[in-house]
Amino acid sequence: MKPTIQLPSYPKDLTDWWWKEVVHHWSDHGEEKILNLLREEIVRQSDRFNKSRDFDPSAYGARDLSLLAYGNFYTPRTFAASGFSLAESFNYRGWRAPGKGPIQILDLGCGSGASSLASLFYLRSWGIKNPIILDAWDYSGKSLAFLRRIHRENQHLWPNTKISTERKDIRNLAASFPCRESYDLILSSYALNECWEGENPSTYSETILSLGNWLKESGQILLIEPAEGQVCRSLHSATALASSMSEKLFIQAPYFNGMPCPLWEGNSKYFSHEVRACTPSPQVERINHPLNLEIRDVKFGLSILSRTPPKPHCPENGIARIISPVRKRKGTISFWGIGADGKETEYEWQRRTLEKEDQRHLLELQRGDVVEISGIKDHSDKRIRVQKADQITPVFLPRWDIRN
Ligand SMILES: C[S@@+](CC[C@H](N)C(=O)[O-])C[C@H]1O[C@@H](n2cnc3c(N)ncnc32)[C@H](O)[C@@H]1O
Repeated sequence: MKPTIQLPSYPKDLTDWWWKEVVHHWSDHGEEKILNLLREEIVRQSDRFNKSRDFDPSAYGARDLSLLAYGNFYTPRTFAASGFSLAESFNYRGWRAPGKGPIQILDLGCGSGASSLASLFYLRSWGIKNPIILDAWDYSGKSLAFLRRIHRENQHLWPNTKISTERKDIRNLAASFPCRESYDLILSSYALNECWEGENPSTYSETILSLGNWLKESGQILLIEPAEGQVCRSLHSATALASSMSEKLFIQAPYFNGMPCPLWEGNSKYFSHEVRACTPSPQVERINHPLNLEIRDVKFGLSILSRTPPKPHCPENGIARIISPVRKRKGTISFWGIGADGKETEYEWQRRTLEKEDQRHLLELQRGDVVEISGIKDHSDKRIRVQKADQITPVFLPRWDIRN
């Protein structure tokens, strides 16, 4: 199936930039020793993200080793997650650059800039010509210094863009007046869960409400979090609460018609997240070699909010977001989707009725894709048997471009 939007892969210049930093930092170490130092730190960070969940300011933003390990290993992945999320906003959820004048972006918890730089890089690669001004906030001064240098030293990747960094604790947003009061895009990737770890969801939703006030009428907020059950549930409960408390804040994604996440509402054991194939660079492969961490795809939870209501969909139009892996069994190919009414439906094809090529197209669908399934008479069934391959049409199919 033809992608609806392509994402150029992580720029090699950035991979090289981060590696040069490491080599410069440990100029008296051999390559294998450096790789092992990075690997130890990556495991420590993975435990911190997934197990201990301790995020005090000195945790990693204050140490060179942790910033260098993050930059070399995790940054390409959060860059990709941010790219896929921007693709949804741009390619499917109706975000448009202003007709004239600069695009204003705010990145909260920007760290060394994966999401900030992804936004500049992808908007340029999708042909957006406006000047871009980006405000980047984080409480780690060292991270912000990295961001400024990467931006300055790789201008060819994001021409005609300006970054202004500010060291702040983003838990105190209510007391914080932004430099610009009307943003076209507000991003936060893999950061708010750290701020609000262990806190009541209402504190998270208050942050979202503040962000809503700083958004232009046509702007969107993109909240990206790691694909972990509790973290994604908090994200979806906070967005639901924020939009229920404001008449000017609507949920655009991940589903339809402004609805809160049905998996969170229904207390499901599953949680909404995307799993997107994205090829790691040879450098990430090399670092990962003995660690054997999963690097062939990027998983993340996403919420998009806007000041204007989303485009309406009626259940009969057959729109669905894929929420499971695509399964191939002996006689069938199937996946679960959530439709315009918020209900979960299993869509199933008999393999014997499909050409090999059509089977391959179905098996290439990814969790997070939005498709339209036509010709269904009764949408109330929990399982729908689809007769033909051409009843499914791609609506939002972003794909990592492996050619470059
Ligand atoms: C996992 S990193 C993500 C960085 C970047 N957004 C990315 O996608 O790669 C989380 C970032 O959130 C920042 N952060 C966490 N809590 C914060 C707070 N209360 N105020 C400001 N920054 C915070 C950390 O310093 C760190 O840079």
